[in-house]
Amino acid sequence: MMRLHSVDTPEAPFGAVLRGHRIARGMTQEDLASASGLSVRAIRNLEIGRTRQPHPQSARLLAGALGLADQACADLLRAARQGGRAAKAAAPAPRAAADTPRGRCELPADVPDLVGRTEVTEQLVRALTERTPASVARLAVVTGGPGSGRTALVVRVAHRLRRQFPDGQLHVDLRGVPSGPQRAATLLGRLLRSLGSVALPDSADERAALLRAELAVRRVLVVLDDVDGESDVRPLLTGSSTSAVLVAARRPLVTVKAAATVRLGPLSERAAVHLLASVVGDGRAAAEPAAAVAVARACWRLPLALRIAGSWLVARPYRRVSDLAALLRDEHSRLDHLTVGDLSLRASVLAHLSGLDATERNALRSVARLGNVYFGLCDLVGLPAAGDGVERLLLANLLTPTPDGRYRMESYIRSCVSERDTPLVPVAAIR
Ligand SMILES: Nc1ncnc2c1ncn2[C@@H]1O[C@H](COP(=O)(O)OP(=O)(O)OP(=O)(O)O)[C@@H](O)[C@H]1O
Ligand SMILES: [Mg+2]
Repeated sequence: MMRLHSVDTPEAPFGAVLRGHRIARGMTQEDLASASGLSVRAIRNLEIGRTRQPHPQSARLLAGALGLADQACADLLRAARQGGRAAKAAAPAPRAAADTPRGRCELPADVPDLVGRTEVTEQLVRALTERTPASVARLAVVTGGPGSGRTALVVRVAHRLRRQFPDGQLHVDLRGVPSGPQRAATLLGRLLRSLGSVALPDSADERAALLRAELAVRRVLVVLDDVDGESDVRPLLTGSSTSAVLVAARRPLVTVKAAATVRLGPLSERAAVHLLASVVGDGRAAAEPAAAVAVARACWRLPLALRIAGSWLVARPYRRVSDLAALLRDEHSRLDHLTVGDLSLRASVLAHLSGLDATERNALRSVARLGNVYFGLCDLVGLPAAGDGVERLLLANLLTPTPDGRYRMESYIRSCVSERDTPLVPVAAIR
């Protein structure tokens, strides 16, 4: 059951109590202003604590406009009387400073043994906290191929930022939100409810406006995992920098302005071996260094594959690391071994591919059929991947570019494409 701390605790500052009641009734600050006769600015100042103690008459008007029942009305008026004393007792916190988190925290657990990614973590923390013009939305994007560790990274960064966004750290995994015309309204409704709204407007536009109004007067971090594209994110971008949005996406969001976009590639070999060793534990990987390197390479230095490989060894304390290296040697059967519990590299790749359009799927198949090669654009003449196909696959993090201007499709992607290979979609059907 959601807890509106501001409504439930009469000893909370007046602004928090007021805001809790307003949101619980699904009212915007504008709605409350017109119902009470106070100005929007006066209400905003009360809610953010800039005005600690309202005039008693203003408090009565607000209680009336909110339609509070007897006890709730008495609590609000008591909070109004105590506002000034509370303000003197607790020194007002500067809005830009880090604060004790008090809002709702929906973040999944941090990955305690995260390896590497130190620089990008700092880059994202900086991007979401550095000074920006007050009217510019704070947005940062993490993109990468399947299983590259996007989710783990955004969750790590969000935990680091809890004190900078003390009014709440919200989290939605969009993989669970069906695509289609209701997607935006569903996502916005979910976020509004997390912020305490009970009466939601029907239309996505109104929900977006209400959500932006809420985010603009609070310090909230919204984390969206697995976004499909800009349309998932744009409605949340406020004309205010008090809140921030951190996104994990399969491809960069090119038409919205982000303070940082980070692309995750494979781990370094050293970090990959370290990840394997920390999952396996007990010094087993250190005891067989050559086999550990072989497993790291067979796993394409990909965090998901390494986590699965490590778990395979954990589940089989009687097997050696070299046994696993031997098992993973055959590229054709490798994907079959990279599944454990609810983790599966194949499932992760297929989820990634499901976001491609018909043009991209055709380009993907034609590149996959080239096999285990480095290729240049001239190798694609006459194939569906010619034209901007390669660029689109690059953007979708499904190709690896080389320094000499060629490309390569990693075998785990090729295998998944071949397994699903169906005849090319006729070009006429795409148009
Ligand atoms: N840097 C890392 N160090 C250690 N473990 C990691 C790291 N990055 C990711 N992992 C682990 O690898 C697995 C896959 O990571 P994650 O789910 O973040 O990848 P993803 O890119 O979001 O995958 P998907 O494509 O399925 O969304 C998880 O078990 C996660 O804990
Ligand atoms: Mg993910």
